[in-house]
Amino acid sequence: MAYLLEVTNLTKHYQVANFFQKPKVVRALDGISFTLNVGDTLAIVGESGCGKSTLAKTILGIEQKTAGEIFSEGKKVEEISRSEFIKSVQMIFQDPYSSLNPRQKAWEIIAEPLYANLQLSRADLRSRVLELMKSVGLREDFAERYPHMFSGGQRQRIGIARALTLHPKILICDEPISALDVSIQAQVLNLLMELQARLQLSYLFIGHNLNVVRHIATHVLVMYLGKVAEYGPVKAIFENPQHPYTQALLQSTPSIKSRKKFEAIEGELPSPFFPPSGCAFHLRCKKATAHCRQTAPQLLVDRDGRQVACLNL
Ligand SMILES: Nc1ncnc2c1ncn2[C@@H]1O[C@H](COP(=O)(O)OP(=O)(O)OP(=O)(O)O)[C@@H](O)[C@H]1O
Ligand SMILES: [Mg+2]
Repeated sequence: MAYLLEVTNLTKHYQVANFFQKPKVVRALDGISFTLNVGDTLAIVGESGCGKSTLAKTILGIEQKTAGEIFSEGKKVEEISRSEFIKSVQMIFQDPYSSLNPRQKAWEIIAEPLYANLQLSRADLRSRVLELMKSVGLREDFAERYPHMFSGGQRQRIGIARALTLHPKILICDEPISALDVSIQAQVLNLLMELQARLQLSYLFIGHNLNVVRHIATHVLVMYLGKVAEYGPVKAIFENPQHPYTQALLQSTPSIKSRKKFEAIEGELPSPFFPPSGCAFHLRCKKATAHCRQTAPQLLVDRDGRQVACLNL
């Protein structure tokens, strides 16, 4: 059976031109591969600038890929119509404040994808919108309100309802809770999990908080400077991390259960314009050897599809 979504060797290079200097290339994505099955939640983690949002935008076609393939249920995305693909893959954004049009009422925002895709009467449109609002926990009488009249959590619910309008199979959530108050974050996460179970959704979940990732993900993709550091089932990643970067990320994560000292990842993320030679992580890696300074690691893939890119395994 074909995967719901399969990405192979996805690559996105940006040419950054400056009046005074030669154009430079940022390798925002460099050979990313993963698969997604129905009901999976693939968490995408890594420090700021490692390419998480670029991955989301390139899958959606908001950014043109430089190389690689994207398959939707076994078919290359180029072989299916853009509107069909967009119906099945929708996105929820980080900032519910700026992603909603302030001049539209809540019901108009949620109905917008329906105008372009379906010929519904006004009454049918309205009842579909009210049904969607109910499913994300918004009261009917909120339909006439404008975005500024909602709290952050309610705005994110409007964004989720809009994303669900066309019955997608996959939701790409780009840090959907980072901009919300801590007290609201759990409510939105619970809503996403409840919708997943009810509607058989699959998620690509971009997030920083590894405690949240451990709770909701089935698989994890750890990225470092546009590349896969490690990828595999959530249990394997958290209980038996292989890559020193994954190990460092886990050790630097605050835990509620234990009062162990955090171990900050030493050094700074290198500039994407001047990535280091050899393994991109070697400057910050406790296990780095002379070999790591010279040779870029190949991505090793085991029989279960787990991927690790480290020379010291
Ligand atoms: N339109 C663009 N033009 C040029 N470079 C870009 C563009 N968009 C992103 N980049 C670069 O690509 C790299 C990856 O950026 P991206 O926004 O995907 O990172 P991210 O992992 O989502 O970071 P964050 O956690 O801060 O959201 C960065 O070096 C960024 O500067
Ligand atoms: Mg981002």
